[in-house]
Amino acid sequence: AIDIAKLRDQTGYITIDSGYKNTGATKSAITFLDGEEGILRYRGYPIEQLAEQSSFIEVAYLLIYGKLPTTSELQEFSNQITKHTLVHEDVRKIFDGFPSAAHPMAILSSLICALTAFYPESVSPDLNKEEIDLNVIRLMAKLPTIAAWTYKNQMGHPLNYPRNDLDYASNFLYMMFSFPTEKYDIDPRIVSALNKLLILHADHEQNCSTSTVRLVGSANASLYGSVSAGINALWGPLHGGANQEVLEMLQAIQKDGGDTSKFIAKAKDKNDSFRLMGFGHRVYKNFDPRAKIIKKAADDVLSALGINDPLLKIAQELEQAALTDQYFIERKLYPNVDFYSGIIYRAIGIPTEMFTVMFALGRLPGWIAQWKEMRENKEPIGRPRQVYTGELERDYVGIEQRS
Ligand code: ACO
Repeated sequence: AIDIAKLRDQTGYITIDSGYKNTGATKSAITFLDGEEGILRYRGYPIEQLAEQSSFIEVAYLLIYGKLPTTSELQEFSNQITKHTLVHEDVRKIFDGFPSAAHPMAILSSLICALTAFYPESVSPDLNKEEIDLNVIRLMAKLPTIAAWTYKNQMGHPLNYPRNDLDYASNFLYMMFSFPTEKYDIDPRIVSALNKLLILHADHEQNCSTSTVRLVGSANASLYGSVSAGINALWGPLHGGANQEVLEMLQAIQKDGGDTSKFIAKAKDKNDSFRLMGFGHRVYKNFDPRAKIIKKAADDVLSALGINDPLLKIAQELEQAALTDQYFIERKLYPNVDFYSGIIYRAIGIPTEMFTVMFALGRLPGWIAQWKEMRENKEPIGRPRQVYTGELERDYVGIEQRS
């Protein structure tokens, strides 16, 4: 047994808060959220207003630089990003080394980290403001190119170079879906839906991936290295990977005959590890304001594109069933942002495996803003403590004497 008193003498008192449910890791002026009231604001602006009236690039500027840009500031920011959308030609060669079935998130995180190899000066802990801004612009500019290439590469399609005459969302759609052999018309309804989705995902204070970016960055690691770590955290099915899992779950329900009550029962069964993906949130305990906006956007996009997706019907049934079920009510489990996002992605032609990449594309300005804030505030290296529960002390035993 552990001698707790002796341990305390050695380590002092430690607060245990598994999963950091009530531990503030930092002070931040970027995103405000109130889980009880279902409020989300970026730099003070309500998410509902930004999703309705702003563009993703404007929101990125807001998050990263703390204010809404003037016309000329927005133009300059946008021009700078456009100027840097190409990636080094050698990046193409790296694609050849990945198996064709590699998950796009594995490639994305590797290639974002690989940017440190192409821009070695980015690893310096002493960058000035202009140098940091250049890395910010590069990352905003190159991540969509790399993201679209992971998809094209997986499909065995020729890679599309970015088009500088297009806005951020349109250029991404062009790189994803156009072929050199045919004319590609960008649908403004899809551009608008994509902008909305990216805005809704752009930041969410100290979630798992953002905390990862800040923690890695607190060791003075580079922006690219820190964001690459964030991408891996996002990939987890309990975090960003949930959007892929939601769609797969809806497909499984459909394949099984569409009986949602059977899956609700499975989710409630404590002997079954199945969870209703897209339900529940660490912070939102009444509703996720992003889910409301996205639900309406899913309806709008599907009707604008004339798509009748049976998965939407299953999702709506599932939501209704869960919202009236005591288990979900007691535990305050509501649909989160990712419950409906997959349905929109599917409607606009994004394959399931790319869903979490889309999340990363949206979350990028948040990660950048949080990394920059952490640097500017000169935060100390993150280093949590622990309460040791192992053997206290024992003597080494030679292998021949072990039983
Ligand atoms: N389905 C069924 N039961 C659930 C679900 C779910 N989706 N989520 C939570 N519960 C239950 C738990 O089993 C637990 O029940 P218990 O009290 O009887 O043991 C209770 O609700 C509390 O759950 P926790 O896991 O303790 O809640 P936590 O805040 O740690 O987890 C999380 C939040 C990870 C989001 C969880 O709700 C979950 O796994 N949801 C499904 C995955 C998902 O949609 N993730 C996306 C999150 S949003 C995002 O990253 C953008």
